[in-house]
Amino acid sequence: MATVPMSFILILFLSLIGKESSCKISGFCACSLDNININTIRSGRVIQGKLEWNVTVINNCNCPQKLIKLTCKGFQTVENVSPSILSKVGDKCLLIGGKELVKSTSVKFSYAWDSAYIFWPSESIIVRC
Ligand SMILES: *[C@@H]1O[C@H](CO)[C@@H](O)[C@H](O)[C@H]1NC(C)=O
Repeated sequence: MATVPMSFILILFLSLIGKESSCKISGFCACSLDNININTIRSGRVIQGKLEWNVTVINNCNCPQKLIKLTCKGFQTVENVSPSILSKVGDKCLLIGGKELVKSTSVKFSYAWDSAYIFWPSESIIVRC
């Protein structure tokens, strides 16, 4: 009777080890820019005659990512966006001053313009994978 839970525990243990090593060996856990997801929705507010948009940037990678940059060419806003969240550097915008965005966390900001701006992840560095 006791053999069933024992083997179950053993399988669980082995599968955890397998997962851990495949992470390190084959980079199974490594992600790409595709794991930075950006959603933009209308907030419903109007600021200085422009529509306000709420943006959520989420890191869906198992590893933290830092120095995240978004494409920003032509981005305009009448609502101030804190440079500590989004700072424009040429045609790119640096997110949270280049700091790490850990697994499943998000950064939110709002801006206001006539239409939504489509941000794309442009660069990032994946750390501690
Ligand atoms: C948009 O963002 C503002 C400021 O963070 C927040 O108060 C508001 O609830 C958000 N609206 C939506 C629809 O998410």
